[in-house]
Amino acid sequence: MKNRVDVIIGSQWGDEGKGKVVDVMGTNVDVFVRYQGGANAGHTVIVNGEKIIFHLLPSGMLYPGKLCMIGNGVVLEPEQFLKEIEELRERGQDRARLVVSPSAHVVMPYHKILDKAQEAFRGKRHMIGTTGRGIGPCYVDKYARHGLRVEDLLNGDRLREKLARVLEEKNRILTKLYNEKPLALDEVLEPSLEWGSAMAPYVGDTVELLHQALEGDKHILLEGAQATLLDIDHGTYPYVTSSSTCAAGGFTGTGLPVSRVDRVIAVVKAYTTRVGEGPMPTEEKGDIGEFLRTRGGEFGATTGRPRRCGWLDLVAVRYSVRLNGCGVIALTKLDVLTGMDEIKVCTGYDLNGTKTTSFSGNAYVLEECRPLYEVLPGWSEDISQCGTFESLPKNARDYVRFIEEHAGAPVKLIGVGADRSQTITRGFY
Ligand code: GDP
Ligand code: IMO
Ligand code: MG
Repeated sequence: MKNRVDVIIGSQWGDEGKGKVVDVMGTNVDVFVRYQGGANAGHTVIVNGEKIIFHLLPSGMLYPGKLCMIGNGVVLEPEQFLKEIEELRERGQDRARLVVSPSAHVVMPYHKILDKAQEAFRGKRHMIGTTGRGIGPCYVDKYARHGLRVEDLLNGDRLREKLARVLEEKNRILTKLYNEKPLALDEVLEPSLEWGSAMAPYVGDTVELLHQALEGDKHILLEGAQATLLDIDHGTYPYVTSSSTCAAGGFTGTGLPVSRVDRVIAVVKAYTTRVGEGPMPTEEKGDIGEFLRTRGGEFGATTGRPRRCGWLDLVAVRYSVRLNGCGVIALTKLDVLTGMDEIKVCTGYDLNGTKTTSFSGNAYVLEECRPLYEVLPGWSEDISQCGTFESLPKNARDYVRFIEEHAGAPVKLIGVGADRSQTITRGFY
């Protein structure tokens, strides 16, 4: 099962369990790659009860000897990057080989200040509810062509010259528009130089390494962060993140040729969650939402914010499956639904009196959509130790089949608990 390229994407609004799926697949993978987003991600991996949350590093870092990459499409916050490496070192789990693209953009201190200042400026009515990690402002600079890239941190003279220019503009924006304090050149330059020298050993030609892996019969896994409904183009704009979270972002974000992808895997949570603002048709604000949040531990892995919870929205999932060309679904957190008498699943929307099964990436239209539910019977048996599809209760199996039928792709991996071991596969490999 070598020589293939898999892309893992979130099919909802994030936190579907992508980290766990990447980790579960890990033994068969040679190269793990993050291709977009930054430390706004929080990918949880639990092995033998031990938990680790990756924000920037690929979730394959626990596999000794494997190659882990941060592609050019990522926006990298140096302090967070170094902190995660240090955490792994302290745990004795820093035995994967890590390589960072020199072209990845750097999240600078002023990006984080701007992220928060812009949210405050938007006010309660228009805020996005960002993670405050400077993601949007960093991507803005990338596309405005005055961003700093990892390679710039490695060259003191160039860094000083670029930073002086950039800070002149940033300080005007910070002080005149947002009433913030200006940043002194040395205050930013000194830590940046330190980050540069600490990061230097990890910087390498990721594009070349990926092409060598392709030619060398290796299995490459691209790990999407965030999710399709947060995609800058196809998500619920403006309540989205600032990167291409779809599978397509995996090519611009790495330098892999589009023609080489073999399989796109949609990670689908057995219900829906969302952090931050924006429409979510199946949101449950009462007891059901509280049950899912408590049972599912639905609190942000990056910000600790309680996640908004609700029933599974198959209109949204089908949109993601089609948009990304997903051939496989990895269904997570099925165990969380155990004990519910009945389970609702949204298979259509009522949009101003008309039934539709189309998902709209237009947030204003989606806001008007009322979910149309089908009701399925629940199950009460503990499924957290089930190792095969056949050993699941009939109603759980029917729930899975219902998802396959409406989402338009087979469910080949099922999560029945947070640990690496609590996973059922059905012809997945
Ligand atoms: P990601 O951002 O998509 O990687 O997901 P997060 O790590 O932010 O959130 C998923 C949460 O669900 C984490 O706490 C995981 O440990 C947990 N999780 C993943 N899969 C399962 C599962 O099948 N069952 C249960 N109960 N928890 C899971
Ligand atoms: P993972 O990879 C869930 C959300 C934020 C906010 C919006 C924009 O763990 O699934 P940003 O800081 O990116 O500018 O915030 O996107 N968001 C996420 N929600 N999971 C994530 O990552 C997210 N990353 C960003 O809450 O609504
Ligand atoms: Mg997460």
